[in-house]
Amino acid sequence: MSLEKIYILGIESSCDDTAAAVICNGKVLSNVVANQKIHEEYGGVVPELASRAHQQNIVPVVHQAIAKAGITKHDLHAVAFTRGPGLMGSLLVGTSFAKSFAYGLGIPLIDVNHMQAHILAHYIDEEGFDKPTFPFLAMTISGGHTQIVKVNHYFDMEVIGETIDDAVGGAYDKSGKVLGVGYPAGPEIDKRAQQGNPKAFQFTKPKVDGLNFSFSGLKTAILYFVQRETKKNPDFVKENLNDICASIQYTIIGILIDKLKIASKQTGINHIAIGGGVSANSGIRQALKDGEQKFGWKTYIPKFEYTTDNAAMIAIVGYLKYLEDDFTSQDVMASARLKI
Ligand code: KG4
Ligand code: ZN
Repeated sequence: MSLEKIYILGIESSCDDTAAAVICNGKVLSNVVANQKIHEEYGGVVPELASRAHQQNIVPVVHQAIAKAGITKHDLHAVAFTRGPGLMGSLLVGTSFAKSFAYGLGIPLIDVNHMQAHILAHYIDEEGFDKPTFPFLAMTISGGHTQIVKVNHYFDMEVIGETIDDAVGGAYDKSGKVLGVGYPAGPEIDKRAQQGNPKAFQFTKPKVDGLNFSFSGLKTAILYFVQRETKKNPDFVKENLNDICASIQYTIIGILIDKLKIASKQTGINHIAIGGGVSANSGIRQALKDGEQKFGWKTYIPKFEYTTDNAAMIAIVGYLKYLEDDFTSQDVMASARLKI
């Protein structure tokens, strides 16, 4: 019996990356991302500029994804798109495009929750990467979110902990602004952290009960620390940048791992996955791997290209929903605060 080939187009436009990907039966055929450089000069995403850039990028990005996959648009079985959460103006571009495209082709439309997609990216077929078995815990760490999710099945997820203020990626980006390392700051802080001493400076970890997180206090502590030290020595940041980055990273990873330890103990689940932009971080990837030996965890660390925002993760959710005939109608609307 020959297996039918199901081609799904995924479209992602929730924040500042315009992305499109084609997946065939769980395997990625193309994964195109257009980053919006325009935000770098503002030190953060400017929503109005993001939606304008999506508008410019969406047609060429989708075109490229289909061409790179070696198919034509008529081979597609469904169009999956990010419905939310995200910036409304950005989401609207992807949502409207996906609706018209699916309608024009006469194929089903599938709505995808961006945060579920960061988790379900682990179900993309990739050599050398295991797919998590249910139930497992997923920590989603990105620019806008920090959550611990108990994943009972693909679409049966329960948020058991989340940030009460800033997201961990936001803490990286805001600290980076104070240190003058550009936007987004996560990758640069990570790179410098690897050359610095993680114990050079101490930052107090926030005290938040249970499985919730808080990063706003840490962000303020870093700001005051830099202001205080710069008063004494105007070149303090320049002279100690790697050590400062290493110390910030050490503190953040400590916070994340502490919560995962509690979550694992509370739920009795020792299969642990990470997802989202911050899961690209070398420190958290290593700390998770170490957890296998230290705490008896089985960990799932995503392939690098599926950590930050991408459309392959949207397409895989599209495929999983396609298999369940879980389609949406043309009346669907983007939802900035869509919950898991
Ligand atoms: O998932 P993502 O691409 O977008 C959101 O949904 O928010 O995550 C972007 C976030 C940014 O805050 C960026 O600084 C952070 O991920 N990030 C990192 C690294 N790479 C990206 N943070 C720490 N270390 C990294 N290597
Ligand atoms: Zn994301």
